[in-house]
Amino acid sequence: MPPENFHITGIDINSDAINKANLATYKERNVRNLTPEMIEKYFMKKGDMYAIKENLKQLVSFKLKNLFDPSFKNLGKFDFVFSRNMLIYFDKETKQKAKEILESMRKNETQDVFFGHADLF
Ligand SMILES: C[S@@+](CC[C@H](N)C(=O)[O-])C[C@H]1O[C@@H](n2cnc3c(N)ncnc32)[C@H](O)[C@@H]1O
Repeated sequence: MPPENFHITGIDINSDAINKANLATYKERNVRNLTPEMIEKYFMKKGDMYAIKENLKQLVSFKLKNLFDPSFKNLGKFDFVFSRNMLIYFDKETKQKAKEILESMRKNETQDVFFGHADLF
């Protein structure tokens, strides 16, 4: 089990993305790279879908947020910050601004922000 204060917060500006994330239900191809042991431990089979088990789901929350909204920083600071493939929408200047905002969300300034493969600067 993770430490007691372990929590993952996911954000997106799009309510469809948040609703989908809250469903926490995945197709077979989404879990194809997990071992059978991981699937057994973390998912329940529902028909041909894989649903995240409730105890794991409780460790994650999703919020409808715009990274550039001043209230974004009210989320607090995080041990690790990940941003996967959001920067693809932004021009050079906006990418830099997004990077600075994400970096300001780190508890430890020496810790890198982790970007996705498409997040090219
Ligand atoms: C290419 S998708 C990647 C989705 C997901 N992170 C993944 O890797 O599968 C980019 C996401 O960034 C979100 N996004 C774009 N601009 C945003 C902003 N200003 N604040 C928060 N999310 C944003 C979009 O709604 C979209 O869901």
